[in-house]
Amino acid sequence: MWGGRFDLGPAEAMQRINASIDFDRRLYAQDIAASKAHCNMLVAQGIIPREDGAAICEGLDTIAREIAEGRFTFRRDLEDIHMNIEARLRELIGEAAGRLHTARSRNDQVATDFRLWVRDTIDALDEALRALQAALIDQAETHADTVMPGTTHLQPAQPVTFGHHLLAYVEMIGRDRSRLRDARARLNECPLGAAALAGTSFPVDRAATAAALGFDRPMANSMDAVSDRDFALDFLAAAAILAMHLSRLAEELVLWCTPAYGFITLSDAYTTGSSIMPQKRNPDAAELIRAKTGRIAGAFQTLLTVMKGLPLAYGKDMQEDKEPVFDAAETLNLAVAAMTGMIRDMTANPAAMRAATEAGFLTATDLADWLVRVLGLPFRDAHHVTGAIVRRAEARGCDLAELPLAEMQAVEPRITEAVYEVLSVERAVASRTSAGGTAPDQVRSAIAQARERFL
Ligand code: ARG
Repeated sequence: MWGGRFDLGPAEAMQRINASIDFDRRLYAQDIAASKAHCNMLVAQGIIPREDGAAICEGLDTIAREIAEGRFTFRRDLEDIHMNIEARLRELIGEAAGRLHTARSRNDQVATDFRLWVRDTIDALDEALRALQAALIDQAETHADTVMPGTTHLQPAQPVTFGHHLLAYVEMIGRDRSRLRDARARLNECPLGAAALAGTSFPVDRAATAAALGFDRPMANSMDAVSDRDFALDFLAAAAILAMHLSRLAEELVLWCTPAYGFITLSDAYTTGSSIMPQKRNPDAAELIRAKTGRIAGAFQTLLTVMKGLPLAYGKDMQEDKEPVFDAAETLNLAVAAMTGMIRDMTANPAAMRAATEAGFLTATDLADWLVRVLGLPFRDAHHVTGAIVRRAEARGCDLAELPLAEMQAVEPRITEAVYEVLSVERAVASRTSAGGTAPDQVRSAIAQARERFL
């Protein structure tokens, strides 16, 4: 492609370090779409002859089919996807192929292709995340009344419903989708026409190519257009946070399905056996989702480090932008699909969750609140009194609801029989009626709202 200035070809190691075709072939559809938009604009502006433009577009369509059908031979000596496609175009249509690269550089070309690719990826991911939210919401609906221990520090804290717990993840995923939407909105400007870095002397119509490719507008500055990759970092940052959320849910699934908890059973489709221990059902998918967070967060760090300190405008360093993004996207798509399947297929075990609420004095806060509400104690004193009562229950090896009234009155004589009304976990849960709280009626209304907001 630049033989005019060179006597010798590249060394073998040079070719290997320089070539990106092994990974950037993933950009072929976007590259062809962008080339067609550019070509049509060149024709409309009278920059290249109409017949050449028609031949170019037809040739590009042929190439798209060849690649889609696996009939295309990618050549490493042609470095990247852009030159592989252009070389093939020349084979197909001859000299006219050489006019496609008028008023364009691989710098604005690759920046455009990659923006289109990240945009497509965000759109597909958004759909997948919606499906994950739907699975979580459906399970939440089934379990709007199912009580379980809510924990802080992983220690028993207050009873909650399983539905409420699952809806927490619906909110997190909702913000992940919103972060991805923000990234999409910011990336949706078109680099084409920036050429190598300075713009072009041809009378291009940048608004036309931008519109043809679904961008909101051309990028304002040609040097910025070819040299920033913050759009990819936006995506990776959102991806890393999303992966972190998935890993937390994955960890909870791992805990919940161990017999010590027994809160859920994962389906056969999402568990594995052991080659030596016949009784085993291992939550491998959840563990792998938990683990894959590392490479997604690492992808962000990788690209951030590539970009740090690079002078304007384009530098070949930027070719290293693609692999972390491709890997993070692929990993995330798989993790979201597996998580959605696991959530859809899992069965909860309300009896085990209910039994677990009997340990840990989950209604201690309710007792303290009762002392405040009914006896008028300041909360700090109520807290102290309740602590002493919990100590007695612990000594007797019983739950607060089973502690005889006399034991409570030994600590605070004004306590009456009526206190037992607040000591059951069902009552405790039902009383948390504040907006966003765990009362089953609140959970049901949150489910209705979540369907409106997210599905
Ligand atoms: N394969 C290159 C990349 O991904 C395309 C741009 C090459 N530009 C250049 N000036 N060598 O960055």
